[in-house]
Amino acid sequence: MTQSTAQSIEELTQTALGELVLLDNSEALEQWRVRYLGRRGGLTGILRGLSQLDIEQRREVGALGNRAKSTLEDELEKRSQEISQARLAQVADLERIDVTLPGRPVATGRLHPTTQVVREITDAFVAMGFSIVEGPEVEWDHYNFEMLNIPQGHPARDMWNTLWVDYVNEEGQRPMLLRTHTSPMQARVMESAQPPVRVIVPGKCYRYEATDATHEWHFYQVEGLAVDEGITFADLKGTLFEFARRLFGSERKVRFRCDYFPFVEPGVDMSIDCFSCQGTDSSCRICRGSGWIEIMGAGMVHPQVLAGVGYDAEKYTGFAFGLGPERIAMLKYGIDDIRHFYSNDLRFLRQF
Ligand code: PHE
Repeated sequence: MTQSTAQSIEELTQTALGELVLLDNSEALEQWRVRYLGRRGGLTGILRGLSQLDIEQRREVGALGNRAKSTLEDELEKRSQEISQARLAQVADLERIDVTLPGRPVATGRLHPTTQVVREITDAFVAMGFSIVEGPEVEWDHYNFEMLNIPQGHPARDMWNTLWVDYVNEEGQRPMLLRTHTSPMQARVMESAQPPVRVIVPGKCYRYEATDATHEWHFYQVEGLAVDEGITFADLKGTLFEFARRLFGSERKVRFRCDYFPFVEPGVDMSIDCFSCQGTDSSCRICRGSGWIEIMGAGMVHPQVLAGVGYDAEKYTGFAFGLGPERIAMLKYGIDDIRHFYSNDLRFLRQF
């Protein structure tokens, strides 16, 4: 009896240990513990049978049983630690970072060349005391034309090929359009403020136009307006001269020639001397040999426009100007086709 009990203990221990090394998770370990060490477990069963033995044998086999029990318990603990360590190592493996790998580049955006030039232009005027305002791109005929001294049927309307919005009012007219220039903001600003006025208006404009290297059907303009008592043409010249030197270098000369816009009198266009060839190259791509580059239209605000917004045209005078930032950017960066700006070709855009 002693012999066979001792043998069963030995066999059970071997079987249990043999199984234990194959287990790889804590649920399996718990099942194993219940199977051998639990209240109804194998070893417990054997030890319970000890009561049948006499005292001498009981001591002997009992000692054997207790040793087997603590062996199983120790091995269980060991296995359980091995399993959790293996799990940790697995996780660490997944998270291992190779610090010698080159970093992934972060894609950064950039400002569109037009935006960059618009900001350069507005910065120059802000430095001279102008404030920036913006206005609607969908505009009324009233502001785009009427208030600018260009009544219905006036031949000057042909200067701006207009995209009309398909909206007919109660009188059967089509009074809504995509603004053809930023000049309507002259009237809107003056309607809502009293002099002194000094504003700069960047914004998008639209024209019903076939596109080519120098024409787009949508483009930006930057409008300027200054109105106060005693403003003269000298103020216009001084302000625009300062602007030209800021954008194109302190050496710049400017030239004003008569031009016609119904909302200014006198009206001019302003040119700068060619910063590329200084007028010395008859085949210069930028000035085409003339030595001068036209950069904007300007003039003294027409008294009719001042009166139209309710200003006293006897008391107040002012000047206005309008320029095209894409044209300025083309000159500055030697871009030869305006269509590059809005064709969204990254090879073009990434150069700025
Ligand atoms: N709005 C004019 C144009 O689009 C430019 C301009 C603005 C001329 C202000 C004079 C004064 O051509």
